[in-house]
This record gives sequence, C-alpha cells and structure tokens, in this order.
Amino acid sequence: MGKCLIIGCGGVASVAIHKCCQNPDVFEEIMIASRTKSKCDALAEKLGGGKTKIHTAQVDADHVDALVALIQGFQPDVVLNLALPYQDLSIMEACLATKTHYVDTANYEPPETAKFEYRWQWAYQERFRQAGICALLGSGFDPGVTGVFSAYAQKHHFDSIEYIDILDANGGDHGYPFATNFNPEINIREVTAKGSYWENGHWVETEPMEIKREFDFKGIGKRDMYLLHHEELESLAQNIHGVKRIRFFMTFGQSYLTHLKCLENVGMTSITPINYEGKQIIPLQFLKAVLPDPASLGPRTTGKTNIGCIFQGIKDGKPKTYYLYNICDHQACYQEVGSQAISYTTGVPAMIGAMLVMNGTWNKPGVWNVEQFDPDPFMDALGKWGLPWMEDHNPVLVD
Ligand SMILES: NC(=O)c1ccc[n+]([C@@H]2O[C@H](COP(=O)([O-])OP(=O)(O)OC[C@H]3O[C@@H](n4cnc5c(N)ncnc54)[C@H](OP(=O)(O)O)[C@@H]3O)[C@@H](O)[C@H]2O)c1
Repeated sequence: MGKCLIIGCGGVASVAIHKCCQNPDVFEEIMIASRTKSKCDALAEKLGGGKTKIHTAQVDADHVDALVALIQGFQPDVVLNLALPYQDLSIMEACLATKTHYVDTANYEPPETAKFEYRWQWAYQERFRQAGICALLGSGFDPGVTGVFSAYAQKHHFDSIEYIDILDANGGDHGYPFATNFNPEINIREVTAKGSYWENGHWVETEPMEIKREFDFKGIGKRDMYLLHHEELESLAQNIHGVKRIRFFMTFGQSYLTHLKCLENVGMTSITPINYEGKQIIPLQFLKAVLPDPASLGPRTTGKTNIGCIFQGIKDGKPKTYYLYNICDHQACYQEVGSQAISYTTGVPAMIGAMLVMNGTWNKPGVWNVEQFDPDPFMDALGKWGLPWMEDHNPVLVD
C-alpha cells in the first residue's frame, strides 16, 4: 500500500518496526530515521530480507529543515513519530511543509519544563485542516488504546459515561532494584509531577503519589496504584461528552518508590542545569545515562501488564459498569519481537494508528485524538496484531 517514515529507534520504535514488517501489504517500504543511525542499521539488518523494504537515515528531529529534506527525499505517506515528546512540534512543522500525515504516541513537552499538555499540538488544528493532512495524536496504549476503549464504550455500551478510571498495572519483574520501563527521563518527569484528575468540569490537583488505592488485577494480583496526571485525561474530558470524573492510576512497587524518593531528595531528578567540572549538566539526563536502557530489559523481565478502563454510566435509563482491559506477557513479547511488554503495548497501537491513517480508515484533515475516530476498526486490529482485549460487565470499582 505505501511508505512510512519512522522517527526514533528506541524501545517503542523497535516494536512498531517489527509490526510494520509483519504487515508488508500496508507497509511496503519504511524508513527508520533517528539520531543514532547505527541503531537503525542494526534493526534494518535484523529485519531485512522480508517483504517490507527498509531504509535508514540519520536525522536530528529538532531541526525542521533536516526533517523536510528527509521527507522530500523519501516521500512517505505518513510520518510515525516515535522519538521523544520534545520533537513533536518540529516533526509536525515538517509534515505541514511537505503535506504529509503525522502520527505520534506522546504529547508535546517543552524540554525546560516538566509539563505536558495538548494545547501546543491542538493549536495546529487549522493549519493541518487547511493543508488537507491528518495528525493523529497519542496512538500508543495510554494514551491511545485507553481513548479507543472510551470511544468503544461510548458507542456500544452507554448512553452516557459519567466516570472513567484508567488503571495501568505493570506486574513485571526485571530483577534490577531500580529501572524504568520506557525512556527514564520522560518517565521520571511524569511520575514526580503533581497528580491531577478531572472532576465536574475542572482539574483537581494532588501532591505526587498522594492518592493510593489497592486493586486486584487479573493476571497480576493485588497491587498498590497511585493517582497520576496523564495526558489522555485532557482529551477525554473534552471528547467524552458529559463525563463527570476521569482518573488515572499506575502501579508502583515499594522498591521503585523508595529509590525514586531518595533520588529526588538528593536532587538527581531535577531538570535545572548545574555546573559540573566546568560543564552544564542536567541531573535527570545524567541519571538516565547511568540507569539500565529500557530496551535492555526485555530478556530479563517476567510477569504481565494489565492496562484498561473502568466505565460507569447510564444505559437505557439504568446505571451500568463496564471494564475493558488488555493483559500482556513480558516474556511472550520478548519471544516475538525482542522487547518487554511496555514497549510492545505502545509499539503495536502506533503501527495500527499509522496503518489506519495510511489506508484512509482514520484520515481526515486536522489534528485529532484517537477517541475522535470510529473505534471499531482499531479494536478489531488490536486483537489481530497482538493486543487482544477482554471485558468485564461487573467489575470491582475503585473508590
Ligand atoms: N502512549 C504510550 O502508551 C507510551 C508509552 C511509552 C512511551 N511512549 C512514548 O514513546 C516515545 C518513545 O519512547 P521510548 O521508550 O521508545 O524512548 P527511547 O527508547 O528513549 O527512544 C527514543 C528514540 O528517539 C531518538 N531521539 C531522541 N531525540 C532525537 C532527536 N532529536 N532526533 C532524532 N531522534 C531522536 C532516540 O535516539 P538515540 O538512540 O540517539 O537516543 C531514540 O532512538 C516517547 O515519546 C514516549 O513518551 C508512549
């Protein structure tokens, strides 16, 4: 069918690229372009020889001109941005300049402020509409599948949804006292920030990790989970009409929290530059350099993830509850694509989002979040490409 330019070659990109190569009727040609070209070449060598033709390139995605030249040279149908949130706007600018569709998995975050919000990317709505190109935002698992689950629940199971609780559990064990499952810098910025949830039309802010609940996750068991701010809260609050409250909870083990608190207390999670032996360094970036690379966790991680949404609302005049979730096994992911389940649960929906934009199923001019499209084709594709979903019509609720 067409060509996809994938930017970034880290943990998530590696899974998405494996999945593109499993789907050569859609992804006839891909180009993997990232800051470190040797990583792109290594993956191309591993996956080459199949039906999907793979090219590689070096690019610094902070530079619009370099991206424009790359896009003009390769002429992709879509750009799949799997670099870091800092690159979102430069890649969107390059897509506008070349009239190329755009897909990502994480919303823009300015490097100097640990604050992610959709407003920067939503501001591109009119320019993308006028250019006749589509930007699909947040096509990972959370955000991504959680938005598709919400649209699916709204379409098939409720007249109105009043409450959504998004629960993200990682029951995986990698054997390290402390490591993050995806990019450590992005991950630590997210979990050390204040929490918040949406209630009755406004944000309620909490201290980091202030709200804790215990939940019994299928496939994992009982885990402590903590309320975090998360980006899909912002788009779902706008797109799921009439919703009264949306919360996001993520599980953390005691060892992770104790290490994180200690690192925070000594200043290692700070993003304020400091002077070290005559050089400006950012403590969090230095910490990233000494932590295990998330891409290296695959062979040693066992256990499962369970991510999903519990909905409460009204159907045919009666109260109704409904839980949609996916369970993913770290070792099964590793056997299939050489990565752990966190990269897998993000890389699969990234490939599906790019596919649906390329084949026109989810493609309209403008800037959209996943829940603004018909969820059914995405739900069908999830099962087909490795993330089958389960439903529970009588779930235990989170108080
Ligand atoms: N929605 C979800 O469910 C979800 C879940 C997890 C992650 N994510 C998002 O997925 C994205 C990728 O995460 P990851 O864990 O794969 O991160 P990662 O392993 O750190 O990979 C990031 C990749 O981007 C490349 N890169 C960074 N800056 C670049 C630049 N200026 N120009 C070109 N390439 C650049 C890196 O190159 P080097 O190899 O040179 O460092 C690396 O290959 C992040 O935005 C993350 O927030 C989304």
